[in-house]
Amino acid sequence: MSIAEILDTMDYGPAPEARDHADAWLAGHADGFGLFIGGAWRSAKSGERFETRDPATGKTLGTLAQADQADVDAAVRAARAAQGAWAALGGHSRARHLYALARLVQKNSRLLAVLETLDNGKPIRETRDIDIPLVARHFYHHAGWAQLMDSEFPKQRPLGVVGQVIPWNFPLLMLAWKVAPALAAGNTVVLKPAEYTSLTALLFAELAQEAGLPPGVLNIITGDGRSGEILVAHAGIDKVAFTGSTEVGRRIRAATAGQGKKLSLELGGKSPFIVFDDADMDSAVEGLVDAIWFNQGQVCCAGSRLLTHEGVADRLYGKVRERMARLRVGDPMDKSVDIGAIVHPDQLRRIETLVAQGMDEGAELWQPQLDLPKNGSFYPPTLLTEVSPSATVAQEEVFGPVLVAMTFRTPDEAVALANNSRYGLAASVWTENINLALDIAPKLKAGVVWVNSTNQFDAACGFGGYRESGFGREGGREGMYEYLTPVVQSKRRPAPVRRGRKAAAEPKSIPAVDRTAKLYIGGRQVRADGGYSLPVAAVDGSSLGSVGEGNRKDIRDAVEAARKAQAWSSATAHARAQVLYYVAENLSARTAEFRDRIRAMSGAAPKAAAREVDAAVSRLFTYAAWADKFDGAVHAPPLRGVTLAMNEPLGIVGMACPDTQPLLAFISLVAPAIAVGNRVVVIPSPRHPLSAADFYQVLDTSDVPGGVVNIVTGARDPLIQILAEHDEVDAVWYAGPVAGAAAVEHASAGDIKQTWIIDGDGCDWLDPASGEGRGFLRHATQVKNIWIPYGE
Ligand code: NAI
Repeated sequence: MSIAEILDTMDYGPAPEARDHADAWLAGHADGFGLFIGGAWRSAKSGERFETRDPATGKTLGTLAQADQADVDAAVRAARAAQGAWAALGGHSRARHLYALARLVQKNSRLLAVLETLDNGKPIRETRDIDIPLVARHFYHHAGWAQLMDSEFPKQRPLGVVGQVIPWNFPLLMLAWKVAPALAAGNTVVLKPAEYTSLTALLFAELAQEAGLPPGVLNIITGDGRSGEILVAHAGIDKVAFTGSTEVGRRIRAATAGQGKKLSLELGGKSPFIVFDDADMDSAVEGLVDAIWFNQGQVCCAGSRLLTHEGVADRLYGKVRERMARLRVGDPMDKSVDIGAIVHPDQLRRIETLVAQGMDEGAELWQPQLDLPKNGSFYPPTLLTEVSPSATVAQEEVFGPVLVAMTFRTPDEAVALANNSRYGLAASVWTENINLALDIAPKLKAGVVWVNSTNQFDAACGFGGYRESGFGREGGREGMYEYLTPVVQSKRRPAPVRRGRKAAAEPKSIPAVDRTAKLYIGGRQVRADGGYSLPVAAVDGSSLGSVGEGNRKDIRDAVEAARKAQAWSSATAHARAQVLYYVAENLSARTAEFRDRIRAMSGAAPKAAAREVDAAVSRLFTYAAWADKFDGAVHAPPLRGVTLAMNEPLGIVGMACPDTQPLLAFISLVAPAIAVGNRVVVIPSPRHPLSAADFYQVLDTSDVPGGVVNIVTGARDPLIQILAEHDEVDAVWYAGPVAGAAAVEHASAGDIKQTWIIDGDGCDWLDPASGEGRGFLRHATQVKNIWIPYGE
């Protein structure tokens, strides 16, 4: 071809990346890879092996071992044996280890990038410029957290051994997101990479050996979902961290229910990409390329739903089609290829099936005329228009280079469409009007919002979802908390719940006549739907009265009332603080009455009962104080812009209270939740519910809007179960007996609800170290990171 011809067509010539180092490394493992356990390589006990292939050619790259129960046992044992010494090393020494890993990643960055591209099929441009630099950045950033452990995470300790299971779409990056914070915090790790893409994890294990990471601190086992299943269910691990499909996430939630393991889930998404009519259209089009054609669309937070203002939709679609026609699809090792191979033929088939289904349901398909490579798994960039919001392709994660487009007329409609999804991972908002962008961002149910940008990631900025996109965050300070647990040094255990002891003399201010306390729903006292009541006995068995026996209908009404009280979540923090102070004031004015009630219910000594009421008043003051101080953060990721990390309320929280210190425990759970803007449905102590029922009157006189606090008395475990299964409840806190926790966690798996299990009867609620503080506020909020780039 002559220069004149080249200038005429401006076609790209082939620009292949060299692969000889990667080939040499693979040749060195031609006999197959083993498992990395206790700092050494060993073959799998099962003897079963499987191949990993290059999805661009279908050629085998290596053979991997399938870990079985005995292998997982060995890996967990090795991790356990190493954990004490690793934690005892201290933050500075761990920081040096993480720093060494970051350095080795950088020194081997090209080899890692090439290997990743060969194994996964994503373009070398992406592994070289995005994945691997972010891996190094993650280890550097977490070397910093290890160094600052003592000062920044006082009274926190590592969890122990962590089991981690990661997907195939960002293999080494997901390893970094999981391993770096776990090790920084002093945990040890057993990690299972995805079966399609294990090679960079195995190379990373070699780098860890080279870096002198103590044996057993990091263990890598390979295998398919069966190995993952064994790992997450293993009794020897203290925490499970998973990234992958919502389906498997749900199974893991159910499999670990009641095991007392901490869990974080980073699951699927169907993220909206919202373009307003004043957006810079050309930037939005480039944004879309990064949103949905980056990594062949195999990105959990891919901007896969294009929502465009009706007035500019045709113009935007025209520009998008033009741009799609210029995308280069082909050999991922070619440096000027935009779209590489789909990870596996199975995934390709899944994409084809979903697109066909979309067309069956009425979508109009547009694909550019492209010559796809004959071998390997490739799929062209695809635009589906005429898609209805309820269509399968608008609701299901396609996990491929497929964009579905819909239109809206008003900002409110854009928000409604954006939130019309069971997922809530990320969102992109495109407008030149910063007021509009910052008005919309908080209304989106998503863990990350990118303003005029998309798919931005940084180790300093937490990442994770709302709703069925999972819970927990990776990156930033909040990501570190996923690998820590408070060191509780309770000076004294709470007095056990007393039964059958002689009752304290009936205090005069308690009326001797029986009365039946109703339920408290939507700011009103209402009769229990079933018309039944439950007797409440004093410690000596004598009757103190009765309470309504709540049922499923009462819980549904309470949730509905909480839903209607949405304005509380957008009230100013100052306003919420004022209400909490007022509640405290009114409780304080009735100290004698509540003290006597506690004495009558639980047989507490006068001083102890008085202390409990005083502590409840103080706790209300604490959270009134916190309401306008539990601030988010402003991060400075490496871009021209800022990221606002906002602490947002969860929404509606269902809670079950313990029998211990019944008034104080009730206040200790309710106050932090409402201080940050949640609405709650509370099941008070079943044994001692009367102080909660007395509290209705305090709420009534304290300007607490109806529906913010709803109280349903009755049998704790069945009622909390209903809350855990309820679609409109965003989180469940369970502070009942540990035995009831398993059912709650099980029930929460349906819609991947956040749960918090508290040893309510083992907690000394009087002690501020265990009964109040930031930990409660963290559990009451979720962080939304809003990325705002600036500059012309
Ligand atoms: P997957 O969720 O099955 O695989 C992710 C990881 O979980 C792999 O390491 C796998 O071996 C492991 N795993 C599978 N079953 C397990 C179990 N029962 N217990 C423990 N670990 C288990 O995802 P898959 O099948 O590879 O992809 C299917 C769909 O999932 C994709 O089409 C995509 O829609 C979605 N997906 C979403 C990801 C995300 O980051 N949101 C990542 C990967 C897949």
